[in-house]
Amino acid sequence: MDDITPAFPDSLLTALRTARHVTVFTGAGVSAESGVPTFRDAHTGLWARFDATALATPEAFEADPALVWGWYEWRRARVMRAAPNPAHVAIAALARHVPALSLITQNVDDLHERAGSASVIHLHGRLMQPRCFRCDTPWRYPVGIPEEPEEGRRIAPPDCPRCAGPIRPGVVWFGEPLPPEEWQRAVGAAAGCDLFITVGTSAMVYPAALLPEMAASQGAKVLQVNPQPTALDALADWNMLGTAGQVLPALVTAAFGEAFPTRA
Ligand code: OAD
Repeated sequence: MDDITPAFPDSLLTALRTARHVTVFTGAGVSAESGVPTFRDAHTGLWARFDATALATPEAFEADPALVWGWYEWRRARVMRAAPNPAHVAIAALARHVPALSLITQNVDDLHERAGSASVIHLHGRLMQPRCFRCDTPWRYPVGIPEEPEEGRRIAPPDCPRCAGPIRPGVVWFGEPLPPEEWQRAVGAAAGCDLFITVGTSAMVYPAALLPEMAASQGAKVLQVNPQPTALDALADWNMLGTAGQVLPALVTAAFGEAFPTRA
């Protein structure tokens, strides 16, 4: 499929070139072109195949730790085999062209970090930082990439070396609070920016979905990048209908001239 180069409004290119502080806010869509499933895309999304409450809640883990741990091991193996895609690379490159850039992600993968982004604000936790379900002691995975278990295989979670409790994934489950320090950082990044770029999120999960509104209410311009309409369409000053892997590299090239290797 040949990549079409999107046309960008001059107003958007000027806003990007003159921005003091750009805040980028990503959802699962930014990792879709790396082969990591989103949550709500029809058919391919995780929630189209699994019931979220049956897997992504503390109650689900207490009821069946092996089912939940096995599912996250499947996702971890998928993420570890994935590579950052041109969208992650373009976001990391953007930081070199603007005076200040904050990156807030709802994703639990480490693809932004592996593309070179620093100080990533992880609102919903991190797959690669598991901890004890009972005493919260951090736990480290063994080195190496696990065999990708078939989806749904039950794997008993490891025991905490400190209290023998079950190790849980380091992600925020439904019904759990966001990490307070990450939320405060994200609110500061939304309140302090003059350009807010939301990429690949359905904007259906709160409080994360409040951030674009917070940015707009303090006067920031909002760019949305998504191949589908979302609840943010009316809020955005610019809606670029396209995939993150196509739109973001082209945007950075159009605004700053930095060229990106086109996909092989
Ligand atoms: P969703 O699956 O809800 O939404 C993914 C969005 O990405 C949709 O709007 C798609 O149209 C869009 N999309 C798909 N492919 C894309 C691509 N190649 N480029 C750009 N956009 C693309 O995922 P999130 O909005 O991230 O919560 O979901 C938010 C939260 O809900 C997740 O963090 C997770 C889930 O429950 C926790 O894990 C706590």
